[in-house]
Amino acid sequence: MEQNTNPPQHYTRTAVALHWLIAALVFAAVFMGWTMTEMAISPARLKTYNYHKWVGVTVLALALLRLVWRLTHRAPPLEKMPRWQQLVAHAGHGLLYVLMLAVPVSGWIYSNATGYRVVYLGKLPLPDLVGRDKALAERWHEVHEVLATVLVVLVALHVLAALQHHFLHKDNTLRRMLAWRRQGTPR
Ligand code: HEM
Ligand code: HEM
Repeated sequence: MEQNTNPPQHYTRTAVALHWLIAALVFAAVFMGWTMTEMAISPARLKTYNYHKWVGVTVLALALLRLVWRLTHRAPPLEKMPRWQQLVAHAGHGLLYVLMLAVPVSGWIYSNATGYRVVYLGKLPLPDLVGRDKALAERWHEVHEVLATVLVVLVALHVLAALQHHFLHKDNTLRRMLAWRRQGTPR
């Protein structure tokens, strides 16, 4: 059979589904992270901490899946833009991939260092990445907080860039991340 060598014009359904699912879960994790730390000690606070960890671990699993998908599939080439903007876009996307993995891993390490095992959905105990260690816990708390803040800032810039492409440049950038098409079907 003849091989199609043209680059794809849109993302696959898997890429689109993973992009928006992960985005929704990251927003939920950030919202819970910000609110739970301000709550009074209570069963509700403990519950929110657990939900935060489960949502975060789900992001980690989906981000790993997404990374594998990305490395084994071609993405559509960026819309026409100056070379420096292409470099910034690629670097930004690369950093988003790194942070989607690094933020949950840092939270996992922090939890273990404080002496808590992460039990996914209250059923599946995950392996401890480090032992209990107060000094380590303080350091990883800081790492988790800083990385999460960098992620929030980067996502804000990413959203602004997407909106700028859609409303100012009026190109296909946002549409192709929304399009629900099988690979190979025309625009
Ligand atoms: C996408 C994933 C995640 C995001 C965006 C995220 C974000 C945040 C944010 C914004 C905070 C508040 C920072 C602070 O004020 O201390 C926080 C706190 C926290 N996160 Fe995460 N997190 C994620 C995943 C995880 C995971 C997977 C775990 C553990 C398994 C975890 C454990 C914690 C804990 C224990 C705190 C509370 C720290 C404290 O008590 O001050 N996080 N997270
Ligand atoms: C936590 C939230 C988000 C994360 C982690 C994230 C991450 C990413 C990553 C890594 C890519 C590159 C995909 C690839 O080529 O493999 C991407 C593409 C894209 N994202 Fe997001 N995203 C988030 C939220 C959003 C939101 C809210 C919007 C819309 C306003 C958006 C719009 C887009 C668009 C339009 C693209 C396609 C860019 C292109 O093909 O040139 N993203 N996103």
